[in-house]
Amino acid sequence: MIKRKGHFIRLDTINTSLVLRADTAEYLYYGPKLVSATELSSLPGVNRKIFSQPGTNDYTEPSVLLENADGGFATNFQWARTRIVLEKPEIMGLPSSYGEGKTLELKYVDPSTRVQLLLYYSLFDDCDVIAVSAKLVNGARKDIHVRRLMSLQLDLYGADYELVTFEGAWARERQKRARVLTSGIFYNDSKCGASSHARNPFVMAENASGVYAFNLVYSGNHKEICECDGANRTRVLVGINDFMFDWKLAPGEEFAAPEAVMCYAPSEDQVSLRMHAFVSEHIVRGKWKKRERPVLVNNWEGTYFDFDEEKLLAIASKAKAVGAELFVLDDGWFGKRQDDTCSLGDWYDNIAKTGGGLASLAEKIRALGLSFGIWVEPEMISEDSDLYRSHPNYAMKVPGRQPTRLRNQLMLNMADEKVQNYVVRAICDVIARSGAEYVKWDFNRTMTDCFGKGIAVGEYFHRYMLGYYRVVSKITKRFPFVLFEGCAGGGGRLDLGNLCYFPQYWTSDDTDARERIAIQDGTSYAYPQTVMGAHVSASPNHQTGDTTPLNSRFHVACGGVLGYELDLTKLSQAELHSIAEQVAFYKENRKLLQFGDYYRLYDRNVNGFMIVSKDRNSAIAMVALLEHHPADPTMSVRFKGLNPGAVYEVCVRGQDGSVSLGGDVLANTPIPLEGLFDYAQRQANSGCIFTRLFLFKKQKNA
Ligand code: GLA
Repeated sequence: MIKRKGHFIRLDTINTSLVLRADTAEYLYYGPKLVSATELSSLPGVNRKIFSQPGTNDYTEPSVLLENADGGFATNFQWARTRIVLEKPEIMGLPSSYGEGKTLELKYVDPSTRVQLLLYYSLFDDCDVIAVSAKLVNGARKDIHVRRLMSLQLDLYGADYELVTFEGAWARERQKRARVLTSGIFYNDSKCGASSHARNPFVMAENASGVYAFNLVYSGNHKEICECDGANRTRVLVGINDFMFDWKLAPGEEFAAPEAVMCYAPSEDQVSLRMHAFVSEHIVRGKWKKRERPVLVNNWEGTYFDFDEEKLLAIASKAKAVGAELFVLDDGWFGKRQDDTCSLGDWYDNIAKTGGGLASLAEKIRALGLSFGIWVEPEMISEDSDLYRSHPNYAMKVPGRQPTRLRNQLMLNMADEKVQNYVVRAICDVIARSGAEYVKWDFNRTMTDCFGKGIAVGEYFHRYMLGYYRVVSKITKRFPFVLFEGCAGGGGRLDLGNLCYFPQYWTSDDTDARERIAIQDGTSYAYPQTVMGAHVSASPNHQTGDTTPLNSRFHVACGGVLGYELDLTKLSQAELHSIAEQVAFYKENRKLLQFGDYYRLYDRNVNGFMIVSKDRNSAIAMVALLEHHPADPTMSVRFKGLNPGAVYEVCVRGQDGSVSLGGDVLANTPIPLEGLFDYAQRQANSGCIFTRLFLFKKQKNA
């Protein structure tokens, strides 16, 4: 709900309130929902601005930085108009959230240049996240250059925040890190042309008053700036990275910054629940939004490049036997690809490896009773490819310079419309001729040689993103029933921008269960389990060499969308039988596991998650023992999210017996775990993680 009284505007979500003053461009309040009848005009202003610019005496990091036609940088945007719009405006060329709700539009004009700055705050009727974006319109008679336009500025009261970020590397994505912000500036950013493995755009600023969380609906270079100044203020800026950024805006042209989102909640758990609800309702779209996702078997870690039709069909028939629903053919099916040195761009069938080609292979997979899925890496080109030989100019590289090769490949210049059109044609053809029901869209290297003929270097990164979004939007619209799963060498581009097109994302190339606990845990702060691809792979694990019991690998994968990624033909009957039981269990509980409320569980030596049905009648918790100490009396866990007034029957998957305990007891009493883990098994498998799945069913209310 948006209420306006003169220049005072109050935006209420279900549980929060944001109060702005339009003429002075100030934040007056953001936090728990206001319940008193306080007049908005009585709220004390403490100079917390909704945008900032050089040329005033605010020397904190600005949200807007323009190079004016007169050669100066100073602007002095003045309030011009306030409007409440009923339909959420689209952001041209960029993905954004959608849904019922209202949008506040604030317009400011710089009197000397006539440049306009528009700020948008969108609310949704059913959620606590506020979407914020910014736009510049050049009302001047000459070109201006946008050197920075941040999507969101929030000046927080106080300079005692802890900033939590999610950082890492390939196979180590989204590790939670916290640091105390003190006087000075902290950046969380990406300059590699992707939202990155290294630093996800999601950040949280926390202090005793609660948690403020921010994210960006964008998959390219991003920057989150936190500056604590001498005025007891912490400025948070979220937007496109201004690194190498310089966007020329001709008279009459607009520049739209991507959408950012913010959310206040009293705790991290609440932030996650609110962010998850937002992603599920207002970011993910299309047929798969609320659909239970299929259990898949992917051949990558099972075969890598070494497969032929016979091997694939053998794996697929085992996949069917254990109850999987979708078979995914990964890298290596096209051109003459036998390793990662060639063929990217040649999206035609490698007959030797696929039998009669994709179409006939897909038919054979379907004849087994499985859906067919296919891997593609559309934004890439190998120098050893027919595409490169015929169109060397499609590759992203600087004329006269040796390009940097990563994973032996170059990138396509997706800023060029010709290249975009080629990609749309080639990938649509793959999907159409195979009839694929699922597509894994990969992106296995980052950008280095940013160059496109006729494209200003300062515009390149963003023009690439606009080209990329044009392509994914066309392809996903053309095939509305196909389930798309994004991937970027694992989770290197898992962000809200991509989730507008891909309802799922491959979380990480690290499939080791212990490692996955931390990766999925970090990912879960911002993103719901419905979008996290989670696979059971071979043991010893291919990334770490560690051994993990099959059930523990499965239990960890229950925290996301389940898949298997190993050569099922190499498993024993007993292992296949266990997998069949796992798949049956997962399917039986899939609605709860994929769409329930997700909580993280932590205790000494223990880490896990708990997923609770919306009506709180049932729940499943995964508890992993990370280290083992014999007779450790402190190994315990408190469960979350249950109805404190209800009594639940609690049992452990695979173990006999159950106990009845109240939701209040389960939440507030440490439940001892020692007795649940078989000491002999632990001794025999020293170094492994062991897990248990707890099942909760409501028996009666208070
Ligand atoms: C990336 C993906 C993997 C697999 C390989 C294939 O690393 O993350 O899952 O698809 O590419 O080359």
